[in-house]
Amino acid sequence: MTRRKKIYEGKAKILYEGPEPGTLIQYFKDDTTAFDATKKAVLEGKGVINNRISEYIMTRLGSIGVQTHFIKRLNLREQLIREVEIIPLEVVCRNVAAGSLSTRFGMPEGQALPRSIIEFYLKDDKLHDPMVAEEHITAFNWASTQEIDDMMALTLRVNDFLTGMFGAVGITLVDFKIEFGRIWENDFARIILADEISPDSCRLWDAQTNEKLDKDRFRRDLGNVIESYTEVARRLGIMKEMP
Ligand code: C5P
Repeated sequence: MTRRKKIYEGKAKILYEGPEPGTLIQYFKDDTTAFDATKKAVLEGKGVINNRISEYIMTRLGSIGVQTHFIKRLNLREQLIREVEIIPLEVVCRNVAAGSLSTRFGMPEGQALPRSIIEFYLKDDKLHDPMVAEEHITAFNWASTQEIDDMMALTLRVNDFLTGMFGAVGITLVDFKIEFGRIWENDFARIILADEISPDSCRLWDAQTNEKLDKDRFRRDLGNVIESYTEVARRLGIMKEMP
C-alpha cells in the first residue's frame, strides 16, 4: 500500500488525504471504545461490517435526496468521501427512552417517547461531549440558527427513513447519533451528512424480543457484539459473503 497523508485519527476511524482535492478516504478500524474511551477493545471485523452498513445507509439516504459525504466504497475498510468542514456537534435523535436520556430523566429503557426528540452535544472528548442548547450553539458560533434548522429538518428526515428501513426488517430504531459538515460554494455553505451511521452510532433492538443489536452489547458486556452487527447487516440484505 502506498503511504498516504493521515489527516485525522479518531477512536474508530482514520481520515487520509483523498485522490482528488476536496476528497478524503475514511478508514474503519476494529477499535471500539465506550465511556470516553475508558473501555477499549479490538473487535475483529467490526470495521469491515461498519464500512458496509454505513455505505448502505448513506446510499439509501442519498437515493431519497439527503446529501451525504459518501462517494463510494473503495475496499473492505475504506470509503471515498467528500471533505467537509465538520460542525463540532453530535446530533442525537431518540424515539424510545434509553441510555443517557433514561439516566437523566429516570425513565425506564424501552418507554416510547411522545414524539421524536433531537438533542445537540458538543464534540469534545476532554469535556465528555456535554449537551448544549441552541443558545450555546449560536452564541459560540458552532452553527448558525439557519444551520440548526437545517440539521433538525435533515435529522427528522433521516429518522423517518431509517425507522421505516429498519422496521421493515424487524428492527426498532431506538436512537442514533449523526454528524454534519459544511461544503462551501463561493461564500455559501451547505450542510451535508458526514461521519458514519452504523450499529456503533445507533441503538437497534430486535422488534420482537427487544434484544440489543448495537454497541450497547459492548458497553454492557452482553457479548456477541460482532454477531449482532452481522445480524443487522444480514437483515438489511448486505454482506451475504460474511459468516
Ligand atoms: O449515550 P446516549 O444515550 O446519549 O446515546 C444516544 C445515541 O447516540 C446512541 O445510539 C449512541 O450509540 C449514540 N452516540 C454515539 N456517539 C457518542 C454518543 C452517543 O454514537 N459519542
